[in-house]
Parts: sequence; C-alpha cells; structure tokens
Amino acid sequence: MNKESKIYIAGHRGMVGAAIWRALTAKGYTNLLGKTSKELDLRDQTAVNQFFEAEKPEVVIDAAARVGGILANSEYPYQFLMENLQIQNNLIDTAHKSEVNKFIFLGSSCIYPKMAPQPLKEEYLLTDSLEPTNEWYAIAKIAGVKACEAIRKQFGKDYVSLMPTNLYGSHDNFDLKTSHVLPAMIRKFHEAKNSDNKPVELWGSGSPMREFLNVDDMADAVVFALENKLPEHLYNIGTGKDLTIKELAEAIQKVVGHKGEIIWDSFKPDGTPRKLMNVDKMKDAGWKASTDLEEGIQKTYQWFLNNQDKFKEVKI
Ligand SMILES: NC(=O)c1ccc[n+]([C@@H]2O[C@H](COP(=O)([O-])OP(=O)(O)OC[C@H]3O[C@@H](n4cnc5c(N)ncnc54)[C@H](OP(=O)(O)O)[C@@H]3O)[C@@H](O)[C@H]2O)c1
Repeated sequence: MNKESKIYIAGHRGMVGAAIWRALTAKGYTNLLGKTSKELDLRDQTAVNQFFEAEKPEVVIDAAARVGGILANSEYPYQFLMENLQIQNNLIDTAHKSEVNKFIFLGSSCIYPKMAPQPLKEEYLLTDSLEPTNEWYAIAKIAGVKACEAIRKQFGKDYVSLMPTNLYGSHDNFDLKTSHVLPAMIRKFHEAKNSDNKPVELWGSGSPMREFLNVDDMADAVVFALENKLPEHLYNIGTGKDLTIKELAEAIQKVVGHKGEIIWDSFKPDGTPRKLMNVDKMKDAGWKASTDLEEGIQKTYQWFLNNQDKFKEVKI
C-alpha cells in the first residue's frame, strides 16, 4: 500500500475510526479522508455518490454505523436495521462502482448465532438464530459481510470484513446509561475512589466470561488488512482470551486505586455465560493482538482522566 494512497475512513470521529486514523497517521499515511455525519450523511445515496465522484478515494474503511446497547436496539429496531443497511449499502455499492479495489467492512461478534459453540468461529455464521435483542443490527451487519463476499467472489476485488470482539480504549463511551461494561467500571471505581472509597455496586454475579480488545489493537488489525491481501472474506478480531467479569472488576479496581468493597447485585441478570472469539484465522494470516489487558486498562484510565471535563460527575 502506497503511503500517499487516498484512504477514506467513514466514521473517523468514532471510537474505532479515530483509532484507525491515529494508527495510519503514525505509520506515515498522508492522504486520509474523513467527513463528519453532518458534512456527509452516509444514509443519503446521492450525497455519497457526489462525494466519491469529487474525492475519488482509492481505499475505503467503513467504521461508520449506528451503534448502541440493548435498550437503544429494542427502542429503535427500524433505525438499527435500516440506517446501518443504508450506510453500508451506499458505501459498498458506490465504492464498487467507483473502482475502489480495497474495502474494509467492520461489524461485530453479534453476527453469530446466540447459541453458537464457544469460541466463535467464522464458519458459524448463519447456522442458527441470532440474539433477539440486537438482531436488527446483526442482520444489517450480516448483509454487509455478504455484500463484500459477493463483490470479492464475482469481481475478484479485495473486499474484506473484520468482526471485532468487545472493544475498549481511548474515546470510549463513559456515559453510565449507555456505556459498555469496561468503561462503566472505570468510571464507577474512579468516582467511588473520590468519594472516600465507598463500595462499588456491580450488576450480576460476576461469573460471565468476556473477551476485551484494545481499540488500538483493532486499528492495528485494520492496518494489517490494508497492507496485506487476506485470503478469505471474513475474520474475527480479538485476543482469543477471556476472563470473568469479577476478574475484570478486580483488575480495574487495582488500576484505578479504589480501596473499598465490591458488592455484586446477583438479582440483576448475568447475560450470556461466555462470549469469546476464535481468532485462529487471523493468527494464521499473520496478525495477533499485542496489548495486555492491564496495560490497556491503564491507558484507558489515563485517557478518561485527561478527558474528565467531558463527563459530568454522577451519583453512583
Ligand atoms: N465499540 C465497540 O465495542 C465495537 C465492538 C465491535 C464492533 N464495533 C464496530 O465498529 C464500528 C464503529 O463503532 P464505534 O464504536 O467506533 O462507534 P461510534 O464511536 O459510535 O462511531 C460511529 C461513527 O459512525 C458515524 N456515523 C453514524 N451514522 C452516520 C451517518 N448517518 N453518516 C455518517 N456517519 C455516520 C459517526 O459519525 P459522527 O461522529 O460524525 O456523527 C461516528 O463517527 C461499528 O461498525 C461497530 O459495529 C465496535
């Protein structure tokens, strides 16, 4: 890949897109293109066409999506299905028609069936029913994976889909109403530490097992996919290692320096007992994650401290 190639990162202000932008800049790529959703609404096919005609990107990385948790998915199923289809269809189809030969599509582990065996392998796609709470989002993402596979198969272009596990890191969402478990714990432990180390109450029993990948590792995987022609159309991106939510809480408590008690509210639901990606295909292709979880939590906590003014203190 030429360092002057024009690379369009859709969603460059998001957590993942911003990490990809940082990684490419650090590697000396000088011709990066990004537009906010206000400047270019990717749901608008005409606007996307005009943008591609004017800018002629050579490579497209799709990190733009309408994302959200269970609550948002269940309240806005139509938007989660339709907006994601619109965003990715406009990007994939316009890229294909504009002779873009390299396209990296990002999805998530929710594309796999709810009851699929663990660790999740790429081959489990479409073998059983999805998790009903986010099937709207998952169906859109599966359509994106299939569109890239079809272009690859029919036209021989390098369109590839990368499916990350749970991500965390700089630019994470620390809003306790909508955040994922890892940034929510960082914030809760931090605020409890600053309130005389009062106890931190956490949901569930602490026994479910989860996998976490630092967003900078995710960006590194995207750079790898950009610089190498991967032989297949779909790859899981993760660490291949999981830990219990209790172990995660203890690791975060240690990094933050909270000295109080942790109270587990086991009346609250635990969710799926285990969710882990099989990352053998990406390893065989030559890439693996490099950030150790404790080091990643430290970096994320530092980012939180440096950006605290953006987050209002909340009562926990
Ligand atoms: N975060 C995770 O834990 C995680 C895990 C697995 C997979 N992923 C995947 O990674 C991708 C990015 O996720 P993220 O966490 O970075 O999300 P994010 O922080 O919410 O960023 C989403 C980006 O999409 C852009 N966007 C949304 N609607 C748009 C529209 N109509 N037109 C143009 N741009 C639009 C936003 O642009 P503006 O900022 O300009 O509005 C924003 O930059 C998604 O495909 C997601 O499935 C994320």
